[in-house]
Amino acid sequence: MIKLHDKYFKPFISEKEIDAAVAKMVQELAKDLGDEIPVFIGVLNGSFMVVSDFVKKYPKPCEVTFIKLASYEGVKSSEDIQRLIGLTQDLRGRTVVILEDIIDTGNTLHEIYRIFKNEGVKQLLIASLFYKPEAYKKDFKIHYIGIKIPNKFIVGYGLDYDGLGRNLPAVYQIKTTQHMKNIVLFGPPGAGKGTQANFLKEKYNLVHISTGDVFRFNIKNKTALGTLAKSFMDKGELVPDQVTIDMLNAEVEKNAGAKGFIFDGFPRTNAQAEALDKLMDTKDSQINAMIALEVEDEVLVERLLERGKSSGRADDADESIIRNRIKEYYTKTAILKDYYSAQNKYFGVDGFGNVQDITERLCVSIDKL
Ligand code: IMP
Ligand code: MG
Repeated sequence: MIKLHDKYFKPFISEKEIDAAVAKMVQELAKDLGDEIPVFIGVLNGSFMVVSDFVKKYPKPCEVTFIKLASYEGVKSSEDIQRLIGLTQDLRGRTVVILEDIIDTGNTLHEIYRIFKNEGVKQLLIASLFYKPEAYKKDFKIHYIGIKIPNKFIVGYGLDYDGLGRNLPAVYQIKTTQHMKNIVLFGPPGAGKGTQANFLKEKYNLVHISTGDVFRFNIKNKTALGTLAKSFMDKGELVPDQVTIDMLNAEVEKNAGAKGFIFDGFPRTNAQAEALDKLMDTKDSQINAMIALEVEDEVLVERLLERGKSSGRADDADESIIRNRIKEYYTKTAILKDYYSAQNKYFGVDGFGNVQDITERLCVSIDKL
């Protein structure tokens, strides 16, 4: 994810996909033009990258030039007549190929058709790397299209947001939701996860989603998903990840205005981590960090035995059961630690000491997100 000015953008079209689309356009055009020597005209500023890559791939002789359209000063309407800069060449009788980075409403294209009407060209062909069919309001023909995209603002590969982003080699799409802080919180039994989650959700205005609670809520209230989940549990089968994801989705939707979420108890496997990434992506958001409270085994055992004295939880009373639970935690979370480390999203936080100190250490990590 990247930030330009006040807006966030997420990866949308990779360098590889762009390269393939440009190659495909070049191939089609070269085939259609045969031995005709075209004049490629890039429309600045946005088209500089696509023109460069396009003509490098063009297999036959060609000419390359650029034009720029500028609004007349003092005229504010978006439909205003534009002034042309840079067309100095005689194009009579030539095959002209306009190379555009993007065609959106088609206003620019309209101007181009108007300008070239009187140039006496043999033929005027339009090629655009990106095209937004939902935004296009004209019926001028666009002869070659690289990639059709939804009507959302993009940057990169020549395209800018208020001056920034043109230099990015790949294309990014604007995120429509506000920037959220979404955290996957981990910690071995006794690490103080619940206590810390309570502080964090207050401080950062986050919604704490404990998968266990979500399950219990759905089953108790006999929601469609709860009933479905229960049908698997009654058969002694694991609830499929998709059912859990659907429940989490419902929780996320219920709290659409949240500043972010603390996920607790999920994911537990690589497949679940991937599913959670996908879910957040559909919300134009992402998991920002896996934060794991790190506490030495001996301290955990001591804490849990202490808690067992008053809580009455059987699994807190027996030292060998406690050690087993801790061991199981490390076996299970090792995979996830790798998963999030690979994305530079793993943060281990020292969970030893008093509650307030630990909260402060957690905040140091979260403030950076
Ligand atoms: P038109 O609406 O087809 O005339 O497109 C006009 C110009 O708007 C393009 O040449 C781009 O400079 C700019 N534009 C349209 N859509 C986008 C976008 O998604 N990102 C960045 N610039 C855009
Ligand atoms: Mg343009």
